[in-house]
Amino acid sequence: MGRLRQKHSDIIDGVLARYPEKKSAILALMHLAQEEYGYMNQEAMQDVADILGVDSTHVLSLAGFYSLYYEQPVGKYVLEICTDLACALRGADEFAETACRKLGIEMDGTTEDGLFTVKGVMCLAACDRAPMLQCNLKYVEDLDEAKFDALIERLRQEAASGEEEPSVVHRILAYAKD
Ligand code: FES
Repeated sequence: MGRLRQKHSDIIDGVLARYPEKKSAILALMHLAQEEYGYMNQEAMQDVADILGVDSTHVLSLAGFYSLYYEQPVGKYVLEICTDLACALRGADEFAETACRKLGIEMDGTTEDGLFTVKGVMCLAACDRAPMLQCNLKYVEDLDEAKFDALIERLRQEAASGEEEPSVVHRILAYAKD
């Protein structure tokens, strides 16, 4: 039995119960695996594949397709800056450079304290509120430097306090209950 099933049996059963077909739970279980392992490494993909009875190459193909799944280790907070057309027209590329400079990292890099990773991603469907970013599944829209600075400060405080927001999987389960 894989580590994911050993450690999170109740959550896995809760997720599986939400879907008429087991395989449909794959994205939710990939979130759980990512939270457990930090990114979608080989073990994480194999755990998901074993739970669902699918080939691990199927999990691999989804991990490669969706930018929400990480194939390399990332920081605690992943700042996914949309650099697609509408956001680019409103200065997203320059904003991404500014964000990296403020954090002292390159694009796709992670800060030394392991808190922040910056990534460029394709359209996140909030084009009317460009430029924008997504951080751990939450949108920050109409971005400017002041908003970015406030976000970083809030996240640093959150990390220092040890208070965690509910994980993605817990949010999926809570949402499905409503
Ligand atoms: S182009 Fe950035 S949200 Fe659509």
